[in-house]
Amino acid sequence: MNTNTGLFEGRTVIVTGAGSGIGRATAQRISAEGGRVIAVDMSAERLEALAAALGSVVECVTGDLCDDAVIDAVMAAAGDRIDGLANVAGIMDGFEPTAEITDATWDRVMAVNLTAMMKLTRAALGRMLRTGAGSIVNVGSEAGQRGSAAGTPYTTSKHAVNGFTLSTAFFYTPKGIRCNAVAPGPVATNIEAPFRSEWAGQRLGPFFQTNLPPVAQPDQLAAAITWLLSDDASNVSGAILAVDGGWAAV
Ligand SMILES: NC(=O)c1ccc[n+]([C@@H]2O[C@H](COP(=O)([O-])OP(=O)(O)OC[C@H]3O[C@@H](n4cnc5c(N)ncnc54)[C@H](O)[C@@H]3O)[C@@H](O)[C@H]2O)c1
Repeated sequence: MNTNTGLFEGRTVIVTGAGSGIGRATAQRISAEGGRVIAVDMSAERLEALAAALGSVVECVTGDLCDDAVIDAVMAAAGDRIDGLANVAGIMDGFEPTAEITDATWDRVMAVNLTAMMKLTRAALGRMLRTGAGSIVNVGSEAGQRGSAAGTPYTTSKHAVNGFTLSTAFFYTPKGIRCNAVAPGPVATNIEAPFRSEWAGQRLGPFFQTNLPPVAQPDQLAAAITWLLSDDASNVSGAILAVDGGWAAV
């Protein structure tokens, strides 16, 4: 499916969550189009498999993005010039409605989906501002467009990703740095989404049975993410692009 157009020739792009699913497909697409990838993931095993598949164009950083030392390690691996950042890593909740949220789930979902994204973006922006160029793509969710796609923690975190994207685009587009988000619907990946609430099952079940589009493949998301990262999207900033098989239109 990948066609090498050399779109990322000479470019360095950080991809988080690169060990699996959408992140892995994005890393593959960037490397196929000539880019150097800084691949970040908690799973050493998954990163080893990625490195074996892509070779020396990928440099791996293993660790939890909620750890500040890992953010520092990503910056060190990237070097002076960062052309793109794909904030893909994220986790689901257990479909908990508000009254059933545990502090542990709330804190972890916010830490991974939002705070780690902010910290890595803040660090990368420092480099991008020096060159006056760069493109940031955040992975949100269709859960960031509505209240009926996940539990409250995940839904809240993905709505916040949209606000983070818009505010970052507002402040930095005049300085040559674009920031956009994609909002996927269901995608065939390794993400875990255990139903931990009986009420959520009752309330969400009918929506899932009637409204969900077909499950997409990670490559379909990677195509949109790499487009937004690339110069082909040079006039696009502050967009929340639904890549969801039409779910946003329901
Ligand atoms: N799969 C879907 O249906 C779907 C739908 C909408 C949005 N999304 C979003 O897409 C993004 C990618 O998810 P995916 O479906 O490819 O999942 P995935 O689980 O297949 O891949 C995510 C990768 O991120 C890594 N990761 C998670 N937390 C991390 C952390 N704290 N530090 C470093 N690495 C970490 C995991 O180890 C994993 O390899 C997420 O932000 C998710 O919310 C997914």
